[in-house]
Amino acid sequence: MTTTVTDLAALESRAAGELAACADEPALRAWNTRYFGKTGEMAAALKAVGSVEPAQRKAYGQEANRVKEALTAAYDAALAARQEADLLKSLAEDKLDVTLPGRSPQPGRLHLVTQTLREIYAIFADLGFQVFRSREVESDELNFGQLNMPPHHPARDMWDTFHTTTPGVLLRTHTSPGQIHVMRQACPDPVRAILPGMCYRFEQITTRSEMQFVQVEGLAVGPGITMTDLKGTIQAFARRLFGQERQIRIRSSYFPFTEPSIEVDVDWPADDPNRDRLTKGTGWLEIMGAGMVHPTVLRNGGYDPAKVSGFAFGMGPQRIAMLRHAIDDIRLFWGNDLRFLSQF
Ligand code: PHE
Repeated sequence: MTTTVTDLAALESRAAGELAACADEPALRAWNTRYFGKTGEMAAALKAVGSVEPAQRKAYGQEANRVKEALTAAYDAALAARQEADLLKSLAEDKLDVTLPGRSPQPGRLHLVTQTLREIYAIFADLGFQVFRSREVESDELNFGQLNMPPHHPARDMWDTFHTTTPGVLLRTHTSPGQIHVMRQACPDPVRAILPGMCYRFEQITTRSEMQFVQVEGLAVGPGITMTDLKGTIQAFARRLFGQERQIRIRSSYFPFTEPSIEVDVDWPADDPNRDRLTKGTGWLEIMGAGMVHPTVLRNGGYDPAKVSGFAFGMGPQRIAMLRHAIDDIRLFWGNDLRFLSQF
């Protein structure tokens, strides 16, 4: 079969007629595929140049290109006009129904521990303490040795922990090694810092203890700091956190890195129905361990214990959160159960 210029004329008028009859954008796009797709009629007509009689080949080629360009231009114009008309139509006809209820966003929230920590930061910021971050993977030397617990010190048993495969490197058992870091960085200037963070102990896991938990350490070092300052600081903190009427009670205790060492209780409101349960019937609730920084620890931090003194304390924000919200199982904190977490 031979192909001629007349075939092109027939193709052009048929294509133009069908284009004009396209009622919407999908029809236009289908037309475009039909004529200009890879196997479309226009592509075939262009390829057919090979089967044209040699004498007419040049004229055929020129005409084929002209038809191709004319149809392409017509299609582009028709598509643009259609889209413009559709837009105007939808602007005129589609109305926004402002009475439909909105879709409420589901924002996340801060973990209860983060919320509690932030409250603690705010209180201590007002008291002039800055937040100092220190490492969770710690050396045996800083976790124990520099805190006055040489290798065979029996007090190490209180903090059985996780050792890494690198000798002398462990997961810290408390935030107290941060005391050494902050002192070495600040010395010889005074220090007023709190050190929050995760701690790890090889514990029997129960409703009251887990093998990972958060602590907030506090440290103040400077000339003339006394136990009175420690007491005043804890009192101010307890009143801000638990209420203006709170009293504190101090009991003597033992930590290798403080001397003297104390434990601090806060009294609990007599009219709180949870009082007996929370305080085991005593009316007092333990909130932290604390004491005056041991002279050896001050020296390890770079200070001269003849010139400066200091106090330190360590508390558990999860316990504080448990008390305030009557949470009866510490494992809920890291259990990742949204039914628990989304309550706070
Ligand atoms: N590091 C102690 C603990 O984990 C708490 C503490 C901190 C005690 C600072 C005294 C001073 O039990």
